[in-house]
Amino acid sequence: MLFPGQNMKIFIINYKSYKEAFTRGVDIAKYAKSIENKLRVNVIVAPPFTMLKDTMSIADTIAQGADEVDPGAFTAHVTWFELKSAGIKGTLLNHSEKRYARPDGSIDYERLGEAVKKCTSAGLKTYVCVQNAEEAKQVLKMQPTAIAYEPPELIGGNISVSSAKPDIVKEFCDIVKGGSKSLPLIGAGIKSADDVKKSVDLGAEGILVASGVMKADDPAAEIEKLAQPLA
Ligand code: G3P
Repeated sequence: MLFPGQNMKIFIINYKSYKEAFTRGVDIAKYAKSIENKLRVNVIVAPPFTMLKDTMSIADTIAQGADEVDPGAFTAHVTWFELKSAGIKGTLLNHSEKRYARPDGSIDYERLGEAVKKCTSAGLKTYVCVQNAEEAKQVLKMQPTAIAYEPPELIGGNISVSSAKPDIVKEFCDIVKGGSKSLPLIGAGIKSADDVKKSVDLGAEGILVASGVMKADDPAAEIEKLAQPLA
């Protein structure tokens, strides 16, 4: 069901823990699938864990994160095994709101690398978030499915990453495209079709959006509007 790299741009809708995830998350998955069919854009939803089974039969569904541990005595952890057993096809990793952080805030590359390796071996797609180009260079060595640049200060706001940081977005996309088969995605503050068009012009193979869809009055219209420049 997942088609990254096969001439379809990627549009990940991250439900986060917004209340709307639970009140209209299933409808959003239905809109995602219908717009994927209409525009040939791979629209993937990332709902809260308790909703994964509700959306996975409707639209391409990934988890919002996973821990690096194997099955065992790890209360409240999410393992690759659990996702695979549930039939989930992929996961975000290292989102800014759930980072593999060391005490100083930098990424714990060892743990993150373990998570990417285990998820990949289990056949899960991995979409790893980073906060800057330097982190992207390190994560590139792990060869995830995609690397997503999301500057944390722009997440949830109305100024998009592609408008505020075009030079870094371009540098990031060039680094990722030059390094391996991982795909460059960008996210944070994306609200308009113009934000998306700029992202593509700068080299992105897709986008991540949360508030722009989850908080919209008309999420179906919003998904279509944001998917259009990816078609
Ligand atoms: O993972 C996507 C997310 O962090 C971006 O959030 O609300 O700026 O679209 P938002």
